[in-house]
Amino acid sequence: MMDAREALKKQSAERALRYVEEGTVVGVGTGSTVKYFIEGLADFRDRIEGAVSSSEQSTALLKQIGIPVLDLNATGTLPLYVDGADECDPHRRLIKGGGAALTREKIIAACSQRFVCVIDGAKQVDILGGFPLPVEVIPMARSYVARQLVALGGQPVWRDGVTTDNGNAILDVHNLRIVDPVALEKAINQIVGVVTVGLFAARAADVVIVDGKERG
Ligand code: A5P
Repeated sequence: MMDAREALKKQSAERALRYVEEGTVVGVGTGSTVKYFIEGLADFRDRIEGAVSSSEQSTALLKQIGIPVLDLNATGTLPLYVDGADECDPHRRLIKGGGAALTREKIIAACSQRFVCVIDGAKQVDILGGFPLPVEVIPMARSYVARQLVALGGQPVWRDGVTTDNGNAILDVHNLRIVDPVALEKAINQIVGVVTVGLFAARAADVVIVDGKERG
């Protein structure tokens, strides 16, 4: 039987299906919550043009249910992107990247008109940073970037054994209390060797669905 938290993730993911428009291409995130959204997309198989996927994992799931996976370069702006998050603050700013798919997720978010974030209530926080902040880095820059992240007040830990879909490494930055997420996102983006920081603040979510309901 599904545990209570999984059931809440599923409710959020299924609620997001109402944002899918016929004849469009849907941006699809990654993770255990989005997995339920992908399952629900099976019913739209014949009514959507296809999906743009944020990871090899989601691509495999989409293909399993017969949804064409399209190249973002060929689709232009997407009307909808649905994805989970690791933390969400009251301003719909997010920490993402627990599943190491943050770079492609951020690219799709940037290309989407509406970003619908699907979470369970345990992921709501007042201040971001309780969840270690993922940063994707070019492998040869790992130690350099780690030193710069220490200078910014964090404690980076290499996610040993993990290589992203882009062939890069992940540093998880602990002990940050992120009072100005937009400024920190900008500062980390400027470190040479950083590919992407998992702070989605400059481009936050447009809609947040928590435990199956749109948050006001
Ligand atoms: C993937 O890299 C992440 O950004 C996920 O979207 C995030 O970790 C949420 O995943 P879950 O839905 O599995 O908690």
